[in-house]
Amino acid sequence: MEIKNICVLGAGLMGNGIAQVCAQAGYSVTLRDIEQRFVDGGMNTIRKNLAKEVEKGKRTQEDMNAVLGRIKPTLDMKEAAANADIVVEVVIEVMDVKKKVYAELEEIVPAHCLFFTNTSGLSITEMAAVTKRPDKFIGTHFFNPVPVMRLLEIIKGYETSADTLAAAEAWGKKIGKELVVVKEAPAFVVNRILCTMLNEAFFVLGEGLASPEDIDKGMVLGCNHPIGPLALSDLVGNETLLRVIDGLHRELGDKYRPAPLLVQLVRAGRFGRKVGKGVFNYK
Ligand code: CAA
Repeated sequence: MEIKNICVLGAGLMGNGIAQVCAQAGYSVTLRDIEQRFVDGGMNTIRKNLAKEVEKGKRTQEDMNAVLGRIKPTLDMKEAAANADIVVEVVIEVMDVKKKVYAELEEIVPAHCLFFTNTSGLSITEMAAVTKRPDKFIGTHFFNPVPVMRLLEIIKGYETSADTLAAAEAWGKKIGKELVVVKEAPAFVVNRILCTMLNEAFFVLGEGLASPEDIDKGMVLGCNHPIGPLALSDLVGNETLLRVIDGLHRELGDKYRPAPLLVQLVRAGRFGRKVGKGVFNYK
């Protein structure tokens, strides 16, 4: 089956990046969100990213226009998904919300359409089970910022077919990513390790062992990480980190207890860069 049309559901931090890399690879993309301001925000980010590349001489203006021309923003689920060969679902990390979206999609998409979910750690098998096509369902986990980060982590659910895996791998390579294919488990592989480390940084901060600046400096200069764990948590979104850790805690036990300071920051609305304040202030 030739893949031409990609529907991306969710125009936020990850969704707009996924739409951008798909359009750059030549796919025809619909980018759907539930409010005009989210769709506009996503398109503005893509425009800004591409314009930076034009400024740096990495892309021509014509190419930028062509990429933008391949992305159709919309609020209408039917318009977004009716002709989709692949739906990449990037909606909020709440299982019940994701399940509702898949129930709605089943009534709209063509029979051959594949469902790819970008989740930070929820069960692929559980989402797939509410659809009539669990064999055509797979996890495709991207990393932030999507246009820059090279990895795509692919996660097979219990019923995922070999054909669906092969299609996800071909698509991942075409959009320029390196792949790892992993088995399903809470938070999969990369987030199980990464988010545990970020959570530990919040324990260290909460215990007053060092300032946030020095915790980050330690990991940047001592371990060659590109940015420190607290700055990274602000980039990923502290509420997203907490959701991943809560999932690990629920399924794998006390070793993954969320740091009280992380819980408190999330309660304070300090979600990170996207709201202008997290561990650090950005305004
Ligand atoms: N979108 C697009 N491009 C971006 C970008 C963004 N949001 N942010 C930075 N870039 C580009 C810049 O334009 C720049 O491009 P050139 O090299 O062509 O000039 C390049 O990336 C480097 O950017 P900067 O020089 O501004 O800053 P930097 O050197 O600090 O790099 C970074 C920024 C790439 C984000 C780097 O800090 C980094 O790699 N951080 C770690 C990111 C990481 O670990 N991500 C994974 C998070 S976990 C996750 O996402 C999964 C999950 O489920 C929670």
